[in-house]
Amino acid sequence: MTDRMKGIPRRPWMDESGMTSRLYGILGHPLAHSLSPAMQNAAFAAAGIDALYVPIAVSPDRIRAALRGLKFSGFSGFNVTVPYKQTVLPFLDRVSPSARAAGAVNTIVADPKTGRWTGHNTDVYGFLELLVRARISFAGKRILLLGAGGAARAVLSAIASRSGSIMIRNRTPLRAVRLRALQPSPIRQKIHIIRNDANLAASGPFDLIINSTSVGLKSRDRLDLPSHVFDGAGAAVDLIYNPAVTPFIRAARRAGYHAVNGVDMLLHQGARAFELWTRRPAPVAAMRRALMENLKRA
Ligand code: ATR
Repeated sequence: MTDRMKGIPRRPWMDESGMTSRLYGILGHPLAHSLSPAMQNAAFAAAGIDALYVPIAVSPDRIRAALRGLKFSGFSGFNVTVPYKQTVLPFLDRVSPSARAAGAVNTIVADPKTGRWTGHNTDVYGFLELLVRARISFAGKRILLLGAGGAARAVLSAIASRSGSIMIRNRTPLRAVRLRALQPSPIRQKIHIIRNDANLAASGPFDLIINSTSVGLKSRDRLDLPSHVFDGAGAAVDLIYNPAVTPFIRAARRAGYHAVNGVDMLLHQGARAFELWTRRPAPVAAMRRALMENLKRA
């Protein structure tokens, strides 16, 4: 063992690489606009940890081969993002209760001795932290959830058990039906699928409206939501954080709703992932600073 290797946990299945930094990353496609590398590298620097966090962009036709290879690549852990949060499931050695409940994984931790992978879902924690920090309550409330994709799964997993009732509206209603069917029976009973605008009008007003769709990410995106949706009084959350003000947030604020974007969810899912990897408290202030600086530049 060279001097440079001293103190670095040996990974028994690897040859000595001479690399002294721990390696982390984010697996997804596309990744060009991900802010996680900036946020996590700032966290490692602030905590004085010798580690590097890199984008791992893999196209869908190569993802299975890439995952098989990643198992032997020396990564200490990585995040998983769109569209692979379910793809990674069969490659895991263990699934945490949070990931099992959400049916999706966004953080993988590799055991330093055996290389075995455990999958976690820190999006659920991130979403709950966002609600706490924005002082948005959901217990017993009437909630409208827009979208039925991967992000909607994490939202449901975070709030469904304590909310009053949840209406799900999705461009493809069948996907909402499937999402409902995946839930345990007591939760299924409080979920209703919105199939058309008349249905939507009859279901309001809502205390909390959550946008988990990707509508609003692109500048040309228009809000496809009747204005009566905001006829009540309450809160609105858009999981999108870039742009900071989406058409959804604008409409909610205009109607007097307390509306926040998804930047706190991004921050806190990342902080929790950092803690799972390092077993150290996350330097949240440094992570937020890195996020804000990069959002300004984006
Ligand atoms: P994520 O993991 O970010 O949730 P996803 O699983 O691809 O990504 O889900 C994207 C969500 O945005 C879905 O609810 C999708 O609706 P469909 O199920 O009908 O595809 C929604 N979405 C994407 N583009 C949309 C658009 N132009 N209009 C309405 N909904 C849209």
